[in-house]
Amino acid sequence: MDYILEMKDISKTFPGVHALDHIQLQVKPAEVHAIMGENGAGKSTMMKILMGIYHKDEGGEILFDGEPYNVSSPKEALDTGVAMIHQELNPILDMTVYENIFVGRELRKNGLVDNKAEIREAEKLIEESGLHVSPTETLRNLTVAQCQLVEIIKAISVNAKVIIMDEPTSTITDKEVDVLFDHIRRLKENGVTIIYISHRMDEIFKIADRVSVYRDGQYIGSGDAKDMTEPQLIKMMVGREITDVFPKAEAEIGETMFEAKHIVRADHKVKDVSISVRKGEILGLGGLVGAGRSELVEGIFGMNKLESGEIYVKGEKVTVRKPKDIINKGVALITEDRKVTGLNLSGTVDDNIGMVAIHKQLKHGLYSKKKARESAEEYIDKLNIKTPSGDEIVGNLSGGNQQKVVVAKWLFNDPDIIIMDEPTRGIDVGAKRDIYLLIGGLVQEGKAVIMISSEISELMGVCDRIVVMAEGHLSGEVERKDFSQEKIMALASDIQV
Ligand SMILES: Nc1ncnc2c1ncn2[C@@H]1O[C@H](COP(=O)(O)OP(=O)(O)OP(=O)(O)O)[C@@H](O)[C@H]1O
Ligand SMILES: [Mg+2]
Repeated sequence: MDYILEMKDISKTFPGVHALDHIQLQVKPAEVHAIMGENGAGKSTMMKILMGIYHKDEGGEILFDGEPYNVSSPKEALDTGVAMIHQELNPILDMTVYENIFVGRELRKNGLVDNKAEIREAEKLIEESGLHVSPTETLRNLTVAQCQLVEIIKAISVNAKVIIMDEPTSTITDKEVDVLFDHIRRLKENGVTIIYISHRMDEIFKIADRVSVYRDGQYIGSGDAKDMTEPQLIKMMVGREITDVFPKAEAEIGETMFEAKHIVRADHKVKDVSISVRKGEILGLGGLVGAGRSELVEGIFGMNKLESGEIYVKGEKVTVRKPKDIINKGVALITEDRKVTGLNLSGTVDDNIGMVAIHKQLKHGLYSKKKARESAEEYIDKLNIKTPSGDEIVGNLSGGNQQKVVVAKWLFNDPDIIIMDEPTRGIDVGAKRDIYLLIGGLVQEGKAVIMISSEISELMGVCDRIVVMAEGHLSGEVERKDFSQEKIMALASDIQV
């Protein structure tokens, strides 16, 4: 048998969308097989069919270990040996780490759930994975990255033959990626097959044996990763060449627009951090996951209690008790976790884009569907959001396109200062470039941008200045002329240079 998994001539249609158009996939045993393609290409849809979450259209067939494979639920898929780590994490936030790891396959003693044994087992698994959390912690208290690692641990621990990872690294930093890759290599040695979806090209070349590329629901081609180059792959994915991956906008830098001084959070996740950004400037905020970058901006936005600190917007001191206080002064926060704070998944694309700036959709003081439509259209177009129409439910869009809706929603309010927390997470190369161009356009209009990112190359590509945080405090600052990967990495791990 050549293939552990084969999809032959598979199609899937949703109302108004031909998500998969007679695609194929051939995965060899114990290989890492990367699936690549732009946002909305159909990658997650293929995987959800393999997990029995979606059902393929009539025709075509799927073979697993040479046998016909037709599962109708994730449980059936898991019982057959196929597990998946989802792109859109959907953990039950009130569950503890250990409960989440053992959900659906509880350890029992005399018929009762053996919590103690589960905690003990979970502790072992957590330790092996290099994650530093207690098994009894609730998921609500974990960062997105930590939740993701819990999901990874869970998939590893069910002894699946095929593990599908749908963008497992979109929120974790280099150090954690290394941990994950060690896991993947070990799994491979044990004969496990990995299907790996990521928009991060560097990872593909590091970890993948073979690559299959899709575009707009169609199969484009496959090959050995070692025989491929990055420009080649990009061309297969987007259908054209992209030479300039990080376009840098030249803007005139002016007076200070925003300043946060001596911010200390009541929970001490942020300890005496001061940052400022000027008109026309793109400030990068770098650091490892857990360094306190999101915690800092959430504190500034009044989402968490501050012990002390002062906030100035355009020279005026602002007392922030709730996010509205600072939003009304023209500051926007594009959040990291689109599910929790970013989007109303059951609302339409139009509604979501208009959510922050409701006043812009009024006509004679009344909500105007037509105005809402027109303004949403503009952003659907600007950001190239792939959706059948503005009436589509956001939850039905592909992951990357949901992220574009988050960006659109905040830009629509026309803020002067924009704080972006991992804005390009899960976004494909072409669309990332669209976002950089858009950020460039914003600073050229005289706005100020603070961008949090875990991708150092991205920060170095588009920022004027980078400040780095480590363990809740500021570890250093680098001007564009002094940017270097090593310097920023050293600051992130708080090594003095
Ligand atoms: N439940 C659904 N209802 C309607 N349309 C859907 C549904 N799920 C996916 N689609 C559509 O199918 C197409 C493929 O989406 P899919 O999520 O598979 O893309 P993807 O390749 O995973 O993209 P990304 O890189 O952004 O995650 C998109 O146009 C998407 O809007
Ligand atoms: Mg996807």
